Amino acid sequence: MAEITVEAPQTPAKLPQVRVAVLGAGKMGGILLQAFLKENLFAAEKIHATVGHAERALALSTQWGVDVSTNNLEAVRQSDLILVGVKPFQVPDLIAEIKPALNKTKMLVSFAASVKTRAIEEAAGMEIAVVRAMPNTPSALGAGAAALCRGRFVKEAQMELAQRLFETVGRTVLVDEKHMDAVTGLSGSGPAYLYIIIEALAEAGVKVGLPRDIATQLAAQTAYGASKMVLETGYHPALLKDAVTTPAGCTIDGILELEEGGLRVTLIKAVMRATERARQLAAG
Ligand SMILES: NC(=O)c1ccc[n+]([C@@H]2O[C@H](COP(=O)([O-])OP(=O)(O)OC[C@H]3O[C@@H](n4cnc5c(N)ncnc54)[C@H](OP(=O)(O)O)[C@@H]3O)[C@@H](O)[C@H]2O)c1
Repeated sequence: MAEITVEAPQTPAKLPQVRVAVLGAGKMGGILLQAFLKENLFAAEKIHATVGHAERALALSTQWGVDVSTNNLEAVRQSDLILVGVKPFQVPDLIAEIKPALNKTKMLVSFAASVKTRAIEEAAGMEIAVVRAMPNTPSALGAGAAALCRGRFVKEAQMELAQRLFETVGRTVLVDEKHMDAVTGLSGSGPAYLYIIIEALAEAGVKVGLPRDIATQLAAQTAYGASKMVLETGYHPALLKDAVTTPAGCTIDGILELEEGGLRVTLIKAVMRATERARQLAAG
């Protein structure tokens, strides 16, 4: 995945006082951290990230220009807002590790799939604010989709702060925690489904004679444009589809093939399967 270019900001950070830790700055954590830097949300000197391997920490520290180490406890000691981005099965051990540095004035934002706010509250052993989020990788370009839900001890201002983080990198929705695995199956995993669709459309373009680079551009821009139409007009997708589908024209022939191939059912089943898997992840 291409890294985001982060230049030293000329203006003060938007949240200059917030001290933030990103524990597990891997693919998703790294995307969020770089996007926060790019958007100048936090002051670089107030960010402390961690990863599992020391050599990776060193490389990332140079690359991002922020403190990156393997010392979770120290990162949490120096932070008020703690983002948890390790793999779901690693979350309980991580919370146990950082527990000595936690207190009720701090706030945890976990974006680990499957791990419930209550499990984190209980591992922390105190009435601490826990927000659970499910972002996705297009956050790298400010086009993310994230759903957030709150634990039992989250105050309004804390929820607003959590929402602000994810609004910086895309669109956010608030949901009940019972929907978080479904969000994971739909928008958390969703970019992968859409890349496959775009790749397949490009392949189709090649099949009907287009050069691959042109076919890929047309397929991706078409997916982008169709998404923008849904989001910005507010029209039901079926209505927008109807506007493309001239009676006895070409599109209806294409749609016939899609229906015969079971595209809808396949996508519905993909989200159902991923949701089911998301329910199991915390157990390892
Ligand atoms: N990828 C996505 O699209 C996506 C979307 C939404 C949510 N998530 C969630 O994000 C989390 C991470 O997923 P990912 O895809 O970003 O995986 P990843 O790239 O493997 O990131 C995990 C990171 O955790 C670090 N780590 C491992 N043990 C650690 C420890 N004890 N202390 C501190 N850091 C540690 C790893 O460090 P090393 O690199 O040094 O091993 C790695 O940087 C998961 O819980 C996942 O459910 C992912």
